[in-house]
Amino acid sequence: MESNLQLRYQDESVAGLPGDLVSIESEWKSPSNIALIKYWGKFAGQLPRNPSLSFSLKEAISSTKVVLKPSPDGIFELTYQLDNQENRSFESRIKEYIESLFPYFPFLQESSLSINSHNTFPHSSGIASSASGMSSIALCLCALEEKISGIERGIDFFGKASYIARLGSGSASRSVYGNFVSWGFAQGFKLSSDEFASPLDFTISPSFKSLCDAILIISPEKKKVSSSQGHSLMKNHPYASLRYEQAKKNFTLLMKAIKSDDVETFIRITENEALSLHGLMMSSDPGFLLLEPASLEIIDRIRKFREETGTFITFTIDAGPNVHLIYSLDSRDKVLDFIKTELQPFCFEGNWIDDRMGEGPEEINS
Ligand code: DP6
Repeated sequence: MESNLQLRYQDESVAGLPGDLVSIESEWKSPSNIALIKYWGKFAGQLPRNPSLSFSLKEAISSTKVVLKPSPDGIFELTYQLDNQENRSFESRIKEYIESLFPYFPFLQESSLSINSHNTFPHSSGIASSASGMSSIALCLCALEEKISGIERGIDFFGKASYIARLGSGSASRSVYGNFVSWGFAQGFKLSSDEFASPLDFTISPSFKSLCDAILIISPEKKKVSSSQGHSLMKNHPYASLRYEQAKKNFTLLMKAIKSDDVETFIRITENEALSLHGLMMSSDPGFLLLEPASLEIIDRIRKFREETGTFITFTIDAGPNVHLIYSLDSRDKVLDFIKTELQPFCFEGNWIDDRMGEGPEEINS
């Protein structure tokens, strides 16, 4: 079913390219994000079954430049390069994505686009590039539309970019903002919507203002099961409806904890979400196991270190074996020492990425 927002964005769309246009371009840097409340299960049009909450990263970034020219034969064309090299598999995914956006950006149908993306994190790091990659493309397309229409940037620019990014990859909807970002309708949260993400509308309490994320690389391999396959396994999952209820409750509890500086609840809910996500994977049909022995060893050590030292550290895990160690900037020295002596030996070739909460996307003006 078409939503009001979908109809509005389609109605307001810029129909065609100006006759005298030679070339225009847009460039954005957009971050990856790490979810604390997980999006796992979706329905029609990439809408989430439950609200999710993430924070945007500072160092794991995709930079994307889109150059638009009128297509010589009036038919949409695309070339896509990752790090200045052609990448056919990404190119076909992105072509399909951009073609699905024609109702929102009709001018693209007569355009020739060249897209060049670069990720700051290595392909083998296990960090999904879809959130940063798709959000950076969405931001470029919204900015190109703005340039063509000549209308000044309005307050809805990022809302629309989030909506468009969502159509490419659900978690990308959250990457158009910095700090904590929520996506998905949640009872009692005014700004919440399934169609786009929003930054939190309250003051973040001190303990959570400057979170760090040490991404401990357990395996550099490509995911055994893609997120899309994982989402679709939720359709017939025996625990699906209970999971969506659990996620809604966890979302409310985590929001409250962030508001009221409740570190204990923050830790409890964050870890419950990570382990529940993997529990869902193990109990789907077919079931799959992404955690590795080193992931479990690291989890044990994080919990033990917290118990023994009282330091605020916790963990989350996405759809892979890598563990994200979440801690506050205040205890950085202590935690870096702990990583070096106790966790790094369990990382693949000792690799981990030193990241933290970031301010969100940045437009590059050439
Ligand atoms: C485990 O956003 O990658 O990272 O919408 O199919 O592109 P698609 O899936 P994706 O799923 C992310 C799953 C997750 C949890 C999360 O980021 O909320």
